Amino acid sequence: MTIDESTRYLEKVGIFQDLSPNDLRELAARMQSRGFAAGAVIVSESDPGDSLFILTSGRVKVVLHGETGREIILSTFRTGELFGEMSLLDHQPRSASVIAIEPTQALVLERTSFERHLQAHPDAALAILAEMSRRLRQADRVIGNLALLDVYGRVARLLKDMAEKEGVETEDGVLIRQRPTQADLGSMIGTSRETVSRALNDFVRRGLIVMTGKQILLRRAFDLAVDE
Ligand code: CMP
Repeated sequence: MTIDESTRYLEKVGIFQDLSPNDLRELAARMQSRGFAAGAVIVSESDPGDSLFILTSGRVKVVLHGETGREIILSTFRTGELFGEMSLLDHQPRSASVIAIEPTQALVLERTSFERHLQAHPDAALAILAEMSRRLRQADRVIGNLALLDVYGRVARLLKDMAEKEGVETEDGVLIRQRPTQADLGSMIGTSRETVSRALNDFVRRGLIVMTGKQILLRRAFDLAVDE
């Protein structure tokens, strides 16, 4: 990727928004573009962390693996989002693994460049804090859902959250264009693929959702039914 192309991506990333065109170019020149195949482990839990990643294409999942190898998905990120900041900020090992869901490209920023950038641009530090608050808020919500909702409720809440984040309004309801696999949906809410499948089929039978390939349409009735 050329420096100009990297600069254009960085312009869209919240923590870099106050940078002048010159500063942006300088930062872009310090970053390396790296590509990862679907399934590649970009960051490994417990490894030392000395770089931050900004996605320029593709999608990744943030996961923890239990002792039995079971996977919990903490979050997913797409183009324009960043990860790997926690180890840079607290000097601890990576808190989780980050795995490419599809072919993915990222710009990589090393610790010294990151620290220099935050020292020179306090607004960038504030933007990172805001992003971390947003993530903690989301994590609080997931913890609450795990503790307070039954499995059907968790599946419903997950669909609602996805619709809010990336849904497209249509005449018939909100369309989620690219849902995760049923196994991944299960890993997001601490349940099995089979249970997710049962819940989704039940929602289909009740006319609350329509599933076509990777798409899920949440019909108007869905909101009313799951808010009860
Ligand atoms: P780091 O700990 O360096 O490496 C793993 C990264 O995954 C971490 O930085 C964050 O960027 C990201 N991450 C870890 N936990 C969460 C979470 N609960 N929500 C969103 N992102 C997370």
